[in-house]
Amino acid sequence: MFEGRIQDLSDDGLGVLESEGGRVYVPFAYPGDVVRVKKIKRRFGRRIARDFELVEESPLRQAPRCPHFGTCGGCLWQGLRYGEQLRLKSEIFERITGLTAEIKGSPKIWGFRNVSNFIVTNGGIGLKEYGNPLGAVDLQECLIFSKRTPEYLRALRDFLEETGLKPWNLKDKTGDLHYLQVREGKFTGEVMMNLIAHVKPSVEVLEALRDYFSFADSLYWSLKRDERNDPRGEAELVAGKPYIRERVEDIIYLIHPNSFFQTNSYALPLLLKAVEGFTDGERVLDLYSGVGTFGVWLARRGFNVEGVELNPFAVEMANRNAELNGVNAKFQVGRAEDTGIGNYDTVIVDPPRKGLKEAAELLVRSGVERAVYVSCNPKAFKLDYQNHLKSAYRVENAVLIDMFPHTPHVEAVIGLEKKGT
Ligand SMILES: C[S@@+](CC[C@H](N)C(=O)[O-])C[C@H]1O[C@@H](n2cnc3c(N)ncnc32)[C@H](O)[C@@H]1O
Repeated sequence: MFEGRIQDLSDDGLGVLESEGGRVYVPFAYPGDVVRVKKIKRRFGRRIARDFELVEESPLRQAPRCPHFGTCGGCLWQGLRYGEQLRLKSEIFERITGLTAEIKGSPKIWGFRNVSNFIVTNGGIGLKEYGNPLGAVDLQECLIFSKRTPEYLRALRDFLEETGLKPWNLKDKTGDLHYLQVREGKFTGEVMMNLIAHVKPSVEVLEALRDYFSFADSLYWSLKRDERNDPRGEAELVAGKPYIRERVEDIIYLIHPNSFFQTNSYALPLLLKAVEGFTDGERVLDLYSGVGTFGVWLARRGFNVEGVELNPFAVEMANRNAELNGVNAKFQVGRAEDTGIGNYDTVIVDPPRKGLKEAAELLVRSGVERAVYVSCNPKAFKLDYQNHLKSAYRVENAVLIDMFPHTPHVEAVIGLEKKGT
């Protein structure tokens, strides 16, 4: 029998129930809840609750605002009060890394996301169902993204009806249209719509597209040649401007379908200021620089910045961003693992989820006085630090920025200084 009080949260934000029948992980349940688990499944050696009855509510709870809460994979923690979300994020970070860190909340916790990737399936148009790779939630709204979500989704549904294009079938992996990606410049009001499809659009389809999405400042059709569930294809401009702009305090960033941009425009200044706070000297290397988010901001503050990034497209964007903002920053294509880390005062690293791995040794051997490690995955940071960085660097301080309200994720900025200086 799986029944009892949730005592704790797992590192990935699931309620942990220690019951007579053993340990069960309960999504959408929080410490203090008393639950009765009705159905379980096994995943990667864990027992995960598929369905549960809430017998007694935790005092940490708040009523979720979204009608799709509990099935949608977007917001695991929407039933938790925001102050508790922040407290639990820093507790989990400390448990994983051993570091105590101040956490800064997002200035806005509704409508903060500047991008949404709506999956277009024959079972529904919206976001993936939690824990069900073959399910999609038929969304009417998305409160963490935009008030305009119903308008965007209505346009898409009308467009599909008129053109007869087939939504993607998650089981058979067939269909015409797979994703609608929408991006908003929160501080400029500009909107980009990008349809990701497995077919080239006919003249009639393009005409309908321009009609139904006439509100978009930038309209793309992206041809997708693989069956994976990710919103990427070869983007072609159909109407409007090739980029939309986002303003983050005194910096303008260009946004394009093919480049990553930090997803929370309101919390981004906190992230940038945390990175700036750990940056010292004159010469700065921005490793894994993406579209130059950190580099351009720091160059505006007088640092002399060079950036290295694997994706040539992002590098082009970063150099455009530097030019647009009239700052002294140069970005080039390269692998972090092959980058000679020479005469810099501070190196910023913002690796993908897997962490630095071999690139950590380059940093250790570089002799650079200061490093700023930006991490969306505390486990990867811990491994990089324990296995490599620790031999040369000590942790000066760490700050957490909540870029992802209502989820268990958090962004960490960790200042490292060379030992023995
Ligand atoms: C978490 S994103 C950070 C982007 C940027 N700092 C920002 O805030 O927008 C990680 C970036 O690392 C790049 N990347 C992945 N592997 C890399 C490697 N081996 N060498 C250099 N860049 C890499 C990715 O293309 C991506 O742009």
